[in-house]
Amino acid sequence: MENPLKLKRIHHVEFWVGNARQAAFYYRKGFGFSQVAYSGLETGHRQRTSYALSQGKANFLLTTPLTPDDPAADHIKKHGDGVRDIALEVADADEAFAEAVRRGAKPAEEPHDLSDEHGTVRRAAVHTYGDTIHSLISYKDYKGPFLPGFMAAPVAGDDCGILRIDHIVGNVELGQMRHWADFYTRVFGFHRYITFDDKDISTEYSALMSIVMSDDSHSVKFPINEPAPARKKSQIQEYIEAYGGAGAQHIALQCKDVLYTVSKLEKNGMEFLRVPDAYYDALPARVGPLEEPIGTLKSLGVLVDRDDEGYLLQIFSKPVEDRPTVFFEVIQRKGSRGFGKGNFKALFESIELEQARRGNL
Ligand code: FE2
Repeated sequence: MENPLKLKRIHHVEFWVGNARQAAFYYRKGFGFSQVAYSGLETGHRQRTSYALSQGKANFLLTTPLTPDDPAADHIKKHGDGVRDIALEVADADEAFAEAVRRGAKPAEEPHDLSDEHGTVRRAAVHTYGDTIHSLISYKDYKGPFLPGFMAAPVAGDDCGILRIDHIVGNVELGQMRHWADFYTRVFGFHRYITFDDKDISTEYSALMSIVMSDDSHSVKFPINEPAPARKKSQIQEYIEAYGGAGAQHIALQCKDVLYTVSKLEKNGMEFLRVPDAYYDALPARVGPLEEPIGTLKSLGVLVDRDDEGYLLQIFSKPVEDRPTVFFEVIQRKGSRGFGKGNFKALFESIELEQARRGNL
């Protein structure tokens, strides 16, 4: 197994947002995350406030700047709310940082200790696409609620059955997909898991291309998308323009029972993309027998795809901020390790309708 940075898992995803208090409320009330920890003025942090949330093994960190001279303020001015850091736990942050830089990664933060009364972690960071970074975190003796500097601030959410982060997709500029796929091979030792070209992912009007990069254990997957030229504007190009460059497009959250999870999320007011009813008429012939009733899938708007290994059920949210940028996928895997290739056409036609409504097609 090639794992040059001794990567263990996605530790958390940090969003830089305009109002972290309200974002925390949204992810608790909408997605069923529980708040676990807090850092801000009350913990002696004068520059930023952060809320750490978790559900299953998925951890989000929501951070807002308290002053206009904080770098997070510039990030929000340029990108709106978005993903700043896909933080990775590694065996040894110093070694991982040195190896990543030796392999061509651009340093973002030199290795340093983060400490409080609960112990110490070691942290460094490297740049990836756009203004996004990968923190590299390793544990020394830390036993606190989230990371040093945070105090426990538990607020239970109404758990929606989300288990873990399945994959995180990056959108990059036209012509940059191969560069960033190669970056994950060269720096992280990832391999190319699946490639989708513009023939796989195109509608009458618009197209994109995608390479799914994965670690050898298939526990960390980072697909990279780029726009493809077509008659009208690619959804990836719309993202790039709205976000002000490359960035994280969607986070797929894996659940154990998609019908339970999606019905709870819809009850909570989360909004998902819908495909035409005809999709469900054609479904039995396309995917064969399913354990879930088609009527229930249709009423919730859940999509299904099958491959040699089994099937998967998935649904995509609308963007979760006013700029048409970051959105979420909810996915349940029943044997399939794919990404729903059979759903691309119906899904992207549905996205195009939204793009057209926004005046961006
Ligand atoms: Fe996805």
